[in-house]
Amino acid sequence: MSQMKTSASMAKIRPVTEKEESDFGTYHYSTAKDSAKARKKAKTLFTKAFDGLPFSRDDKLKILDVGCGLGFLSCVCAEFYPNSSVTGFDTFEHASLKDSSIGMARRNARILGFSDRIVFQKGDIFLSDFRSKKFDLLVSSLVFHNFGKKRFDAYERLAHWATSKSFVVLGDLFFDYETDIRSLSSIFGGVERISGSAMGSAYKILVLSNPKM
Ligand SMILES: C[S@@+](CC[C@H](N)C(=O)[O-])C[C@H]1O[C@@H](n2cnc3c(N)ncnc32)[C@H](O)[C@@H]1O
Repeated sequence: MSQMKTSASMAKIRPVTEKEESDFGTYHYSTAKDSAKARKKAKTLFTKAFDGLPFSRDDKLKILDVGCGLGFLSCVCAEFYPNSSVTGFDTFEHASLKDSSIGMARRNARILGFSDRIVFQKGDIFLSDFRSKKFDLLVSSLVFHNFGKKRFDAYERLAHWATSKSFVVLGDLFFDYETDIRSLSSIFGGVERISGSAMGSAYKILVLSNPKM
């Protein structure tokens, strides 16, 4: 009886520790649930693309996540390539991801155990000069369609951060797919589409290689 009392009172005083969960946010024109669903599909496609790259999963790759938002793709990369170091940059101001902040991106990386390999920076694709830095793998999801016609300039900037051996895995909504492919083909010698769709048929994943500039 006294034993029962003791365990009952212990249960009462045991601190309730809530498990922290990552939250990669809600996309513009979407709900939290649909955004999470879209990321699940995008993760499958990006993983398929990574499987096809001529890197070993153990390689110490330098990876750049362009328009990283709350770090969804940075974390996918850190998980797939366990020795990689990832830089994610974003303005953290654009309306396409609700209530985004660098603090929340860092929190997600910490919760998932990637804090020591992911660095988040505030930066604008049109202003940031990573020209002195080169990356083995550049990734981006759902960023370039926000730029309208300026996306063609942004595609060129991707090439500046790549070497002849780098790969770019670009997932986006291509409203004018043929025009975008033409522009990308003038910048990259290799433009390959990963089959499968996520978030509707406008979302495609392209693997770009051999930058011409
Ligand atoms: C729809 S969100 C996608 C975020 C993240 N890539 C993902 O898949 O969850 C688009 C992101 O692009 C960022 N962005 C918009 N314009 C940008 C710019 N000029 N430079 C860098 N990031 C930008 C936004 O702040 C936003 O976080």
